[in-house]
Amino acid sequence: MSISLNVNGQDLRLDIEPETPLLWVLRDELGLTGTKFGCGVASCGACTVSVDGVATRSCVMPISALEGTKIRTIEAEPDRITAALQAAWVQLQVPQCGYCQSGMIMAAAALLRSNPKPSDADIDADINNLCRCGTYQRIRAGIHLAAQQLNGSASA
Ligand code: FES
Ligand code: FES
Repeated sequence: MSISLNVNGQDLRLDIEPETPLLWVLRDELGLTGTKFGCGVASCGACTVSVDGVATRSCVMPISALEGTKIRTIEAEPDRITAALQAAWVQLQVPQCGYCQSGMIMAAAALLRSNPKPSDADIDADINNLCRCGTYQRIRAGIHLAAQQLNGSASA
C-alpha cells in the first residue's frame, strides 16, 4: 500500500506492506537506527517514538495505522523539551550502556508535554520502559532537572 506520513519534519510517501511495524520502517527503510529493538512485543519500550505527540511503541504499530501522522524519533531536531532532556541526560550522565535511552527520552518528552512537573510517582506510573542497567534513579533525576530548567527554576 502507499502511505503518507511525516517523519522528523519530512513528508514521506512509502510503498510498503500494510502490516509492517513502524520500527522496521524507521530502521530498515529510513535508516533511523536510534530507535531500538528490544522485545518486539510492546513490553520494554526500547522502540518508543512520538506519534502526534504520544509515546508509542513502534515494534507493534502497523504502518497502515499511521496515515497522515507526525512521527518524531530520537534523531528529530530537538524541540524545547527534548533539548532540556538531552542536556539533563548529559549533565547527570544518565545512560549506562545506552540501549534503552532513546526510548526513555521519547517517553520522558511525552510525559513532560502533558505534565510539566511530574513527581516520582507520576514518572513511575507513566514510564514503564525497562532498563537492564538499572538507571531508573538517574532517569527520574534527569526528568526532574529538565522540568526545573523548562520551568525556569534550575540553578545554573
Ligand atoms: S521493542 Fe518495542 S516495546 Fe520492546
Ligand atoms: S542504560 Fe543500559 S539498558 Fe538502560
